[in-house]
Order: sequence, then C-alpha cells, then structure tokens
Amino acid sequence: MNRLSAIHLLMTQKKFKNYVEIGVFNGHIFFKIKSFFKIAIDPDFKFRKLRVVGKLFLNPYNFFNQYFQTSSDQFFEKNAPNVFRNKTIDIALIDGMHEFAFATRDVLNILKYMNTNGVIIMHDCNPITVEAACSFKEWETRHFKGIWNGDVWKTILYIQSFRKDLYVFVLDCDHGLGVITKLKDPQKVTRFQYSKQEIEQLTYEDFNANRTAYLNLKPVDYFFEYFQLNNK
Ligand SMILES: C[S@@+](CC[C@H](N)C(=O)[O-])C[C@H]1O[C@@H](n2cnc3c(N)ncnc32)[C@H](O)[C@@H]1O
Repeated sequence: MNRLSAIHLLMTQKKFKNYVEIGVFNGHIFFKIKSFFKIAIDPDFKFRKLRVVGKLFLNPYNFFNQYFQTSSDQFFEKNAPNVFRNKTIDIALIDGMHEFAFATRDVLNILKYMNTNGVIIMHDCNPITVEAACSFKEWETRHFKGIWNGDVWKTILYIQSFRKDLYVFVLDCDHGLGVITKLKDPQKVTRFQYSKQEIEQLTYEDFNANRTAYLNLKPVDYFFEYFQLNNK
C-alpha cells in the first residue's frame, strides 16, 4: 500500500471524484489520478510543458487539470473561494511543506471545502530517524540530502488533541500515511489534551517513545476495514 493505491482504492470503490494535491513536485502521483476535477498546488512544479502534453496521452483526464503555481496558503487565500464555488473536495493528498504549522494549516483549509464523507491523506507522518524528522532549515543545511519527513506527525497529534469532530489514524506504510475523516457523531473527549505550545515543544525522542499512540498507528489491513473496501 502506498499513497497512490490508497487514493485509487477510495476513488474506485467509494466513487470519490474531486481531487486536490498540495505539493505535487514532478506529478508522479497527480498525473495518474483519474478525475475530471483535479487541482494541483505547488510553488515550484518540477515538470515542463512537454511532460504535461505526454501525460495527456497516457491519462486523458489530465485535460481537466487545474494548476496553481503558488504556496498552499496563497491558494487558499486567493483562489480557493472561486475554485470551490460549486464543488466540494472528495479526496486530498497533503504533501507540501512538511512542517507542523504548514501541514496543520493545510488540513484546516482543506476541511473547509471537504464534504462530510471526504478523506485527507497526509504523506510523511511516520519518520523513522531523527534526521528525517528535522526542520526544513536543517534539511536545507544538509543540502536537501537524505529522506525528509519533517514533523507533520505533530499535526496528527494536534488533531487528536483538539478535534473531537475528526478521526485520524496513520497507516504503517509509505513513510506513514495519515488518514483524516470527519466524524458523523463527534467524540465526547479527545484522545490527548496537549496544548499547541506543548506539541510544538515535543522532540523526536518524545515521538519515538510514544509513536503508536501519537499517530494512532495502524497496520495496512485497517484501511480496508475502516472504509469497508474490497481487498481482492
Ligand atoms: C515531497 S514533494 C511532493 C511529492 C508528490 N506529492 C508525490 O507524491 O510524488 C513536496 C512538494 O511540496 C512543494 N511545497 C513546498 N512548500 C509548499 C507550500 N507552502 N505549498 C505547496 N507546496 C509546497 C515543493 O515544491 C515540492 O514539490
């Protein structure tokens, strides 16, 4: 299981249509999605016009792509009200700036436009080394070498501490796939009661000692069980 197969399963078996991807890079995932309403957001797309043309032949749904070369914050401030004027989001992949503050804003902004049955998939929630969990600044000083997951794991903990109306778990695959859904019946209490400041101050060592609980970490089979998907 990886982010593409998770998205594909939901789109085919749950009939999800409208797709948004924050952080698209070379379009490795984005160009494969089959949807008439696909939104790509990235301040620095890593593909040229020729690749876009080639992808039209491989997957004709790419004719309908809408590209926004901008940060996700700018997109939500300037473009989103118009883009989602008469559309809601069924499924979103959040894979942009892998820092707590950015990832949390991305989740909150997507939620504003996501329908009640919609799903957010968030990449890179389960770093397995302290180096992979470092800040963007540290990764920059390493000249972008090595895997970088950042601290988006804190966004999962934030949801578990603040949002009684959401259910979140992380699948133990593909660097940790966060799965966020809206609850029809909000819980009475949250699983954790950390403040935002306490979450900001947690270290990788704290995370490593509490990984399973902080992420509500689940095996891949749980994805099929939770969404009642056919695993054939
Ligand atoms: C890990 S790559 C995305 C990979 C892609 N989703 C995939 O699955 O193949 C992260 C991307 O996020 C973009 N990014 C960085 N900051 C961003 C921001 N503030 N808003 C949106 N995208 C951002 C980067 O330009 C980069 O292309």
